Amino acid sequence: MCSIIGYYGNEIAAPIIVKGLKRMEYRGYDSVGVATESNSQIELKKGVGKVEEVNSKIQLDALPGKIGIGHTRWATHGRVTDVNAHPHSSNSGKLAIVHNGIIENFEQLKKELEKEGYIFQSETDTEVIANLIQKNYEATKNVKDTIIKTVSELKGHYAFVVMFENGQLAAARFHEPLIVGIGKDSYFLSSDVLGFIEQTDNAIYIENGNFVIVDKEKLQILDFNGESIKQQITRVSKEFADAYKGDYAHFTLKEISEQPDTIFKAGEKTKEEIKKAVDYIKNSNNVYITGSGTSFNSALIAKQVFAKYAKVKVDAIMSSELQFSSDLIEPDSTLIAISQSGESADVLEAVNIAKKVNCKVISIVNSLTSSLARISNIVIGMNCGPEIGVAATKSFTSQVIIIYKIIEELCNGKLKIDYNEISESISKILENHAQIMRIAKEIKEISDIYVLGRGIHYPIALESALKLKELTYIHAEGIPGGELKHGPLALMDSNVFVIIINPNDSTYLDTLTSSREIKARGAKIIGISDVKSDVYDFWIEIPKTSELSYPISETIPIQLLSYYAAIEKDADPDYPRNLAKSVTVK
Ligand code: F6R
Repeated sequence: MCSIIGYYGNEIAAPIIVKGLKRMEYRGYDSVGVATESNSQIELKKGVGKVEEVNSKIQLDALPGKIGIGHTRWATHGRVTDVNAHPHSSNSGKLAIVHNGIIENFEQLKKELEKEGYIFQSETDTEVIANLIQKNYEATKNVKDTIIKTVSELKGHYAFVVMFENGQLAAARFHEPLIVGIGKDSYFLSSDVLGFIEQTDNAIYIENGNFVIVDKEKLQILDFNGESIKQQITRVSKEFADAYKGDYAHFTLKEISEQPDTIFKAGEKTKEEIKKAVDYIKNSNNVYITGSGTSFNSALIAKQVFAKYAKVKVDAIMSSELQFSSDLIEPDSTLIAISQSGESADVLEAVNIAKKVNCKVISIVNSLTSSLARISNIVIGMNCGPEIGVAATKSFTSQVIIIYKIIEELCNGKLKIDYNEISESISKILENHAQIMRIAKEIKEISDIYVLGRGIHYPIALESALKLKELTYIHAEGIPGGELKHGPLALMDSNVFVIIINPNDSTYLDTLTSSREIKARGAKIIGISDVKSDVYDFWIEIPKTSELSYPISETIPIQLLSYYAAIEKDADPDYPRNLAKSVTVK
């Protein structure tokens, strides 16, 4: 979840590293640091806050030297403090390290090192790796043997870059991403291509269980036994370079606004894969679908539309729960795994469980080079461009469109979805921010908000509640309309707001009745509907459309409402507190 970067080249390293860290900040942003090597000395600066903030306070980018490492943190071991920020140097001060992941046996290793006289400043597991490397380097006197010995002692999931005071860099990957960028006379060792995309689009995706050493402008790739590995250079898609806000105040607003176009791109480059996926689904006894957070909400939509339109029964299982209910997975089945990043640890674990019982894996991902894409039998690309805002927006609608494309294919031409209608409907909603901005002012002080929907609109209610809580920090909960009287009605009083998702389809009248029941208890109602009603205190109009366009149309106003309420509350919509874009730890 943290971002790591190393640079080895002919230019001053620190400004390049700081730029790369800004672009990878979505991965974690509670603290930041940079270390460089200059005249065989390690220079290090770090602090709590976002890259821009810390850099203007302590000038990370003014560090000297042409070799360096950097890090943005999402705290796992230890609080958010200057001392716990990375890089961490070893006791000798002769090396510094940045790390992403979790070392499961760090307490045991720490105790052993303490017995040998090592002293620890921080609460992190990373400082344990730093001192372990120091110990092994003092014993082996060479970087290669040091890394082989160190990785054999570490348990957990990690990627790290270590810089030695003689200017050598080494980086190892074990279940966390590590990508080498190959520039002109320079190398980057990074968690994400965004770390170096401004400098080069040539990259090597380091395989799991391998490490790299960079020195004297030479790159070696080795496996954890020390055998040399040959890996191809990949040309990274230039679309990654799109990761700029442009004229938008925030990435989140930009990404919400891109949806009239991104829905046309979903699955477009992988049409053949959709056909193959349908063959798998048709020939499989059981079909399961999994994901986390927003991607799981898409899975819930899939469950409904697969059954209703294609008469295919699909079991939706949350990835983080699948490991505890693996008995639900019948051998030789098909698992559809949805993940924007393709790096969520829970999703990868779910896939591994399914693969152990011989299931075929169809993945729906935005990053075609991600770990999930690599372990899947079929990969369908969302193709919606980089999503930098931590809250998923355009990736959600792209996931739903891919699910629609799969059911169209399953229905063999008997179902035609009007994607132009969906795109036009999103555009119309995006034209009218004024009403949503007014409502954002109304909700900014409240502490509870509920979102109610029935049928296919229930997963949208869950997704809406997730967006509201992530961006506004207001307690938000999705309620299935029919369950209102079975409990949630007890919560309704004049202090709460309820968003009613109520398009004019088969759920309309029942949901209108629920709205009246809630209103009678004094709650304020925000209706999202194509039909006006006196029951709504605030009405957000969505265009009248066909049934399958509604779930996407009704998502847009809530994305906007969450965004504008975050602005009203002075919260950063791109980087909500405590969260990270890519949850690569369990
Ligand atoms: C919600 C959000 C998270 C992610 C979840 C899964 O806005 O961003 O809930 O949806 O962490 O991430 P991916 O799809 O990358 O597996």
